[in-house]
Amino acid sequence: MKLLKSAIVTAGVLLLSGCADITKDKETVFVEELLKRMTLEEKIGQMNQVNWNGNYSHVKKGMVGSVLNVTNINELIEMQRCAVEESRLGIPVLISRDVIHGYRTMFPIPLGQAATFNPELVEKGARVAAIEASSDGIRWTFAPMVDISRDARWGRIAESCGEDQYLTSVMGDAMVKGFQGDDLSSPTSIAACVKHFVGYGAAEGGRDYNSTGLTENVLRNVYLKPFESACSAGAATYMTSFNDNDGIPASANEFILRSVLRNEWGFDGVVVSDWGSIAEMVPHGFAENRKSAAMKSVNAGVDMEMESRSYIENIAELVNEKKVSERDIDNSVRNILRLKYRLGLFENPYVDPNSNVVYAPDHLQAAKQAATQATILLKNNNRTLPLNEGRIKSVTITGPMAHAKHDQMGTWSFDGEKEKTVTPLEAIGDMLGDKIKIIYEPGLAYSRDNDKTGINKAVKAAQQTDATIVFVGEEAILSGEAHSLSNLDFVGAQSELISALTATGKPVVMVVMAGRPLTIGNEIDKCDAVLYSFHPGTMGGPALADLIFGKAVPSGKTPVTFPKTVGQIPVYYNHNMTGRPANRNETLMCDIPVEAGQTSLGCTSFYLDSGFDPLYPFGYGLSYTTFEYEGVKLNSVNFGKNDIITAVCTIKNTGDYEADEVVQLYTRDLVGSINRPVRELKGFKRVSLKPGESKEVTFELPVSELAFWNRNMQYAVEEGEFHLWISPNSKSGQPVSFRVD
Ligand code: GLC
Repeated sequence: MKLLKSAIVTAGVLLLSGCADITKDKETVFVEELLKRMTLEEKIGQMNQVNWNGNYSHVKKGMVGSVLNVTNINELIEMQRCAVEESRLGIPVLISRDVIHGYRTMFPIPLGQAATFNPELVEKGARVAAIEASSDGIRWTFAPMVDISRDARWGRIAESCGEDQYLTSVMGDAMVKGFQGDDLSSPTSIAACVKHFVGYGAAEGGRDYNSTGLTENVLRNVYLKPFESACSAGAATYMTSFNDNDGIPASANEFILRSVLRNEWGFDGVVVSDWGSIAEMVPHGFAENRKSAAMKSVNAGVDMEMESRSYIENIAELVNEKKVSERDIDNSVRNILRLKYRLGLFENPYVDPNSNVVYAPDHLQAAKQAATQATILLKNNNRTLPLNEGRIKSVTITGPMAHAKHDQMGTWSFDGEKEKTVTPLEAIGDMLGDKIKIIYEPGLAYSRDNDKTGINKAVKAAQQTDATIVFVGEEAILSGEAHSLSNLDFVGAQSELISALTATGKPVVMVVMAGRPLTIGNEIDKCDAVLYSFHPGTMGGPALADLIFGKAVPSGKTPVTFPKTVGQIPVYYNHNMTGRPANRNETLMCDIPVEAGQTSLGCTSFYLDSGFDPLYPFGYGLSYTTFEYEGVKLNSVNFGKNDIITAVCTIKNTGDYEADEVVQLYTRDLVGSINRPVRELKGFKRVSLKPGESKEVTFELPVSELAFWNRNMQYAVEEGEFHLWISPNSKSGQPVSFRVD
């Protein structure tokens, strides 16, 4: 500690005396002064992140730069005290945790938060998480996850913001701002960690940790976009991904880590590996041993190693053997010390163990609002919803997710407490228990339950009541890391439960809680109305109760395409046209004449058994009201590359509920030096409209936003004709045309 204090004093003296280059800020002077005092072993210690193991002696020796998963506040305080008071230089430890969609107050999973198309709400959720997590001493979270996810087989789609790079960029930036706040040194700010860098969501077959084969062009035009945006948003750290892309594991990929992240984007924060991803280069077959793996990662630019200890065990030797330069070690340690300085840890390393901000009323209210707006109305035949307590005198509540306190929180809910979850059963009981008759029969105990004996009880209840609400989907464990699926139908006997309930002839409302889109078209066809809430978190029950009984109106939109069958995957809206696009008049298998001639069906790109279209397109969601979109007006039909396109559309609420609509702006570049997507989201706005009310929605789109990485790997707007839509989803609407010259 003494040495650290003298570094602070020296830095101050240098600044005051003017000896230090006054253009260098305090931060640089402080970091350089401290770095000068460090031994090689202490530098390597800063590059070592430990999964907390209670080993205080390593902390005292300066061998630990960061820890994750310290869940006992007293251990956390003692560990920090050892670092600050007993290590030679007194450098604080950076305490980290996976605070992905809430700390104690759980918000909807990120895929659900993306469905809100409400970045302000998402930023609020991240701010709440930061306030709660930092009150327990956590100052670094491993979020946002901005992996573009076009494959619902991949369990980690639950943690993503979906398939679109624009939406993911907007939501990722919102989370960075929410976690980091206005001032990273504030005690309630936590460093964001943009992950997983890069291309992880393109794992072949949707099987987690699998290889990816992304070209530079696809990387730059799709997968890198949200990461680049987050850098501009000020993200403090990045995490490398598990996948090898084009044969190179991300933790040793100097192209993305040095050429792109550092040199092109100017990132000066910390790059941390994923859990064990450096040592895993040995099973990858990319390094013969852990020492070689450590060398490859240091040389590629990974500053800190999470958990697998190859750095702490090998870097000193690698430096002595000149296989790794101490210059690179110094740069990594600078990044780490700079981050700790920016977090204010040197002045304020300790947490107040008596702060108690978790589950504050405004936190729970924000979580409820997020769950409300994250819920998508997929179907509402005969205006079944909202259920009207005046019309409905009795209701059956059933299904394995009706009262699933643990599973409702979804994946990555490490610090959520299931006792605090308010389920739909509880919320509907609280809201209407004294007004209508409620019969609760779970039907199935959990989503994978194949014991059908409870189904009859649920059916008998349904026969006695005016309507049935069946809550189905996935247990939390069925999505998230290492939880890929090759079949996306309902698990267990849920499909049988839904068939039996709908056979009663009574109105059936299906509510799905899942970590991904499921291929449940058959069950949806049988139900009268369907709400999709992903995993809605702590306050999912009150949110769903409000939506089902009309105290709130659904406004969520699909952040990812819903496939009809798993065989359609990968399926996403911003695909290329191909040379033989489907015309939707194709003959499906059930209509093919016997002995049909080889080319009699035409030759277009579709599936004989499931056609071309998905179950639901990206950006889709209904309301209890209806909206009319008038024609789009542009300020011109000819634009230069420095112009701004002004697109206006009048939206009218033609129904009888006040409601929000997420109005979406899409463009298409009709001809490019490489094939361009059939649509690209370029903006969205949430508008509130009273029944009968109209509003003009205006988008200002700089022509520069039409740039892409072209055939010559230049980022440029290419001249030519474009289409533009303002529409309620990625599939509907009529385009208007304009040119760029
Ligand atoms: C996991 C995940 C990563 C997480 C880290 C720490 O394996 O891939 O997203 O932040 O390890 O738990």
